[in-house]
Amino acid sequence: KRRYDIAVIAGDGIGLEVVPAALRCLELVALRHEFTLDLTEYPWGSAYFQAHGAMMPTTGLDELAKHDAIFLGAVGVPEIPDVETLWGLLIPIRRTFDQYINLRPVRTLPGIPARVVGAGDVDLVIVRENVEGEYSAVGGRIYVGEPHEAAMQEAVFTRRGVARAARFAAELATTRSNRLTSATKSNGIVHTMPFWDEVVADTLAGYPGVSVDKVLIDALAAKLVLDPAGFDVIVASNLFGDILSDLAGAIAGSIGVAPSGNLNPEKKHPSMFEPVHGSAPDIAGQGVANPVGQLWAGAMMLEHLGEPAAAADLTAAFEACLADGLRTRDLGGTASTAEFTDGVAARLTA
Ligand code: NAD
Ligand code: IPM
Ligand code: MN
Repeated sequence: KRRYDIAVIAGDGIGLEVVPAALRCLELVALRHEFTLDLTEYPWGSAYFQAHGAMMPTTGLDELAKHDAIFLGAVGVPEIPDVETLWGLLIPIRRTFDQYINLRPVRTLPGIPARVVGAGDVDLVIVRENVEGEYSAVGGRIYVGEPHEAAMQEAVFTRRGVARAARFAAELATTRSNRLTSATKSNGIVHTMPFWDEVVADTLAGYPGVSVDKVLIDALAAKLVLDPAGFDVIVASNLFGDILSDLAGAIAGSIGVAPSGNLNPEKKHPSMFEPVHGSAPDIAGQGVANPVGQLWAGAMMLEHLGEPAAAADLTAAFEACLADGLRTRDLGGTASTAEFTDGVAARLTA
C-alpha cells in the first residue's frame, strides 16, 4: 500500500482550525484512493515559543527533513513580534529545504464570481521566488535608540536564484498558454531589477515558444485588478510575489481560498504546503475561517506526492460545496468552518 509520511504544523490562530479540517478531508480521500497518510503533528508555534523560548526545538529541522512533505497552517500572533515567529519557523523551513519556488495558483471557483465586475474567469499562477531577493538576511539596525537610528535591508538577487525561478515559470508556461508575465521595477533607482530583467531574458532565450511580457510592478498591480483574466503565469521576486498573491486571491473571492506550495522541485528535500493567508488573529477562535485555502494546499500536496486522482477528488469536493452555495463569511455566506468541512467530508464519503 502506498504510504506518505507527512509532518503537520498547525501553528497559530486559524491554523489550529483549518488544519484539522483539512486533515479530516485528506484522510477520507486517502481512504478512497487506498493510500495511507502517516501524520506526525508537531505542536510548534507561538504557544511553544511562550513555553520554551523558541518556535521549535533545535532538532526541529532535522525532524522535518525525514518526512515526504510538510503541511503547515500559519504562524504569528499579535503578542510576539513577527520577526521571532516567522524567522523562527517559516523562513528557516523554506531556506533549509531550498524551497525556492512558491507556487500560488489563483482561479475563480464555482459560484464565486471574481470581485472585479466583468472580469470573466480568472486562471493564473504566480511563481514566486521564495528564498532570496528582498527577503535577504542582510541588514539590521544601527544606532539603536539614538535620534539617528536607522534600519537597512539589502535585497540580494543571484543569477542562479533568478534563473531557476524563471526556468520553472517558463516550463510551467509551456504546459499552459505559453505566456509569461515578469513583475519588475527596472525603471526606478532599484539596482536589482535591471539584473532580474536581464537574467529572466537570458533564461527565456531557451524557450523560444514562450512570450514574456515584463511589466512594472505598480502598473501590474493595477492591471491585475482591471483585467485579472488577462494573465496566465506570472513570475515575481519574493516580495512582489508575496503582495501579488494576496491581491490575486482577493480578486478571486477571498484570500481565504488561496493555496501555496513551497517547492523544492528537485525533491531533494521535503516541500511544504500551506494557505497563502496567515493566522488571522481577528477571527481566530470563532470557528468561521474559510478552510478552502488549506484544503486546496492539501490537494497540491497530494499532487506533489504523486496522487493526482486523489488531488482532483478533493478539489472537486470543495468546489461542489461552493457551487451548492455553502460558503463561509469571507465569501458572503454564513457557513462555519465545521459546516463547510462537513459538506466536503460528506462528498468524500458518498
Ligand atoms: P492574514 O492573512 O492572517 O489575515 C488578513 C485578513 O484576511 C484578515 O481580516 C483575516 O480575517 C482574513 N482571512 C485570512 N484568512 C482567512 C480565512 N481562511 N478565512 C476567512 N478570512 C480570512 O494576514 P495578517 O492579519 O496580516 O497576518 C496575521 C498574522 O499571520 C501575522 O502575524 C502575520 O505575520 C502572519 N502570517 C503568517 C503566514 C504564514 O504562516 N505563512 C502568512 C501570512 C501572514
Ligand atoms: C506568506 C507570508 C510570509 C511571507 C510572511 C508571514 C513572512 O506573508 O507566506 O505569504 O511574506 O512570505
Ligand atoms: Mn503573504
